[in-house]
Amino acid sequence: MKSLGYAVLGCTDTGEWRSFAEDLLGLQVVGTGPGSLRLRMDEYLYRLQIEESDTRGVTTLGWETAGPAELDELARRVEEAGYTVERPGVEAARARNVTDLVRFKDPDGLTLELFYGLTNALTNFVSPTGNSFVASRLGLGHAFQLVSDPGAYWTLYRDVLGFRLSDHIEVGPGTDATFLHCNPRHHSFAFVPAVADDRHRAQGVGHLMLESVDVDGVGRALDALYASGGKETATLGKHTNDKMISFYLESPSGTGIEYGSGGIEIDDASWTPTRYQSAHYWGHKR
Ligand SMILES: [Fe+2]
Repeated sequence: MKSLGYAVLGCTDTGEWRSFAEDLLGLQVVGTGPGSLRLRMDEYLYRLQIEESDTRGVTTLGWETAGPAELDELARRVEEAGYTVERPGVEAARARNVTDLVRFKDPDGLTLELFYGLTNALTNFVSPTGNSFVASRLGLGHAFQLVSDPGAYWTLYRDVLGFRLSDHIEVGPGTDATFLHCNPRHHSFAFVPAVADDRHRAQGVGHLMLESVDVDGVGRALDALYASGGKETATLGKHTNDKMISFYLESPSGTGIEYGSGGIEIDDASWTPTRYQSAHYWGHKR
């Protein structure tokens, strides 16, 4: 597995997403169609696809594989693990602008797509706010999911899809959040039981993290949020495990966006999974 390649989010109004993406996140709007919007943050054609839909929030995560051999191998393993894997064919791949993909539902019914060959854009990424993102080979960022059965996600992501453990954070008495990596980004996927504490209830992807190349990009996004009359859902703070300085805001899909900078990169040869008693050194007040 290479990276978190793309995410699809449902919303009631793509117009809201357009200004949210352009004015606050600094993402480039590309490829708009009827009731849909694509957002770009690096050399790839898009990283987020926004669709007008009755379902708000993240509906699909697209995981990038190393190519046809790994796609076949992972599809076989997912099937052996008891999931129904769909091979929707050329049309579906074209619709996502990838070479090939397979599709299945995770234990809570979120659609996961495994793919290779996300199309490169012909022009440079131009951020409307002048920001740049840590993406490319590290993927679009990370997804943090609230799940009904952590054991099922541990098995799927670690044993079947081949992610490696980064660390655990105690988020409540006897309750851990689990952080996994598939490339040098500290984590591309994390999950926590949906009932871990008062803040963690709704099942599904709670937030997507986007990483600015510097903390000034984070500060300017915060300024833009305040100037628009908006408010962060968690204040600026620093995470213990990936050392990221970030704040959180709510997207028009209802899904949180963690907007941060300074996340560490790790390598498997020297990395040792550890534990933390809190997710924050400071800040991230709700
Ligand atoms: Fe996060």
